[in-house]
Amino acid sequence: MNSEDNVINTSLQADKLSSSESAPVIEIWGKRPLSGHISVSGAKNSALVVLAGTILCSQDCRIRNIPNLVDIGRMADVLTALGVKVTRNGDTLDVDASSISHSRAPYEIVSKLRASFFVIGPLLARLGVARVPLPGGCAIGARPVALHIRGLQALGAEVHMDHGIVHAYVPGTRGRLKGGKIYLDYPSVGATETLMMAATLAEGETVIENAAQEPEVLDLANFCRAMGARIRGAGTNTITIVGVPSLHSTDYGIIPDRIEAGTFMLAGAITKSPISLSPIIPEHLTPIIAKLAEAGTRVEMEGHSRARIVPGEKLLPIEIETRPHPGFPTDMQAQFMALTTLANGDSVITETVFENRLQHVAEFNRMGANIRLTGNSAVIRGVPQLSGAPVTGTDLRAAAALLVAGLAAEGKTTLHGLHHLDRGYENIEAKLSAVGARLRRVPSSSLVADSANQPVVV
Ligand code: UD1
Repeated sequence: MNSEDNVINTSLQADKLSSSESAPVIEIWGKRPLSGHISVSGAKNSALVVLAGTILCSQDCRIRNIPNLVDIGRMADVLTALGVKVTRNGDTLDVDASSISHSRAPYEIVSKLRASFFVIGPLLARLGVARVPLPGGCAIGARPVALHIRGLQALGAEVHMDHGIVHAYVPGTRGRLKGGKIYLDYPSVGATETLMMAATLAEGETVIENAAQEPEVLDLANFCRAMGARIRGAGTNTITIVGVPSLHSTDYGIIPDRIEAGTFMLAGAITKSPISLSPIIPEHLTPIIAKLAEAGTRVEMEGHSRARIVPGEKLLPIEIETRPHPGFPTDMQAQFMALTTLANGDSVITETVFENRLQHVAEFNRMGANIRLTGNSAVIRGVPQLSGAPVTGTDLRAAAALLVAGLAAEGKTTLHGLHHLDRGYENIEAKLSAVGARLRRVPSSSLVADSANQPVVV
């Protein structure tokens, strides 16, 4: 099997497993102190959009620090379906988009990976035409794409809906988008990225106002700049792009994953364990580190990219409201909820970014937490102890949060819904086992037979 097959198989296997009765689970035996060091992988959300961005370039690109995840396999599948050659070698992907043979992304993959809709921007910019199925909603909300579409129209594209497919094209014979002024009603990460990519090859200047400021947007801008794009202001709320006729080959390394790093920080905080992690970019973790400090856990830097968790005596109650960057990230909301279940007092967590991202409340309560939902806020009354239970991750970060809770719970937690977890965490069992956690992945069909409920050292 060649390395390209490898990438494709990752996502196909995951699809089979998620639908099969023997879908695996992770068993976690909690209350084990952790110690040692965890390596942080490349950022999933950067890697996904940078891979989409390779479509802009008619020469080879090498992308390093790509995490080995199901979602990355799916994005590679989309690129392959468009005629792009993708070769994986460890955490490096070589992408050759010199001859794109199709302008239509396959529904079977786009429906499973929302971020693959983002290829609409670079496809349209490169070919003058793109056909991408509407991604549909997902567990955390409806997730519309109106901002992407309105922005593409502001750059001169005609956009029609045709049997569930978004068909975008540049009218006229030249096939090139035209720079324009775009104001986003909401600083959508995906819309900012789609439009920034589209504008790199447009004629003239594009200004995106109320742009998303997430570190992954800046990473994408840096990647595009490395290919010769003219972009300034990425990482602020106004991004200016001056279109160029073509982009050139580059070799680019993805930033570390701030959400994976944050999840491991929470694993340290909830088990009161002084683990360290690297590499991180501390500025990307400012809201996470600040909220941890309020909750009684300090994060100390050892050098510029290594952090150590310094647990306090007590876990303190906190208030959190999720916001676009540099506000508190919605992708860390569930993990912080795990921490607050054990705090000395009442915490309040309000989700404002997605309309349906508190489904994990019921799962935490199954573990003995005391959480009450009022609208989009959760009031969490800290309890002295969580007890292990069978739980299901309802989305990617919920699954990670339940795993974190399981590390601190009395007895065994059995985590279902790993098809979510595997979308975003590379080797999570191995990374946590290496710092002393007791957990193992088993087929769920073996659970009935395994009635001994004994801890296993992995
Ligand atoms: C990205 C991240 C995801 C993160 C989210 C918010 C990737 C691959 N995913 O998702 O992990 O949780 O940012 O930080 O990078 N919206 C609209 N209309 C649109 C687009 C978005 O109303 O056209 C709304 C969404 O429904 C949602 C909010 O804007 O309520 C934020 O979504 P957005 O920033 O677009 O998230 P994604 O880019 O999908």
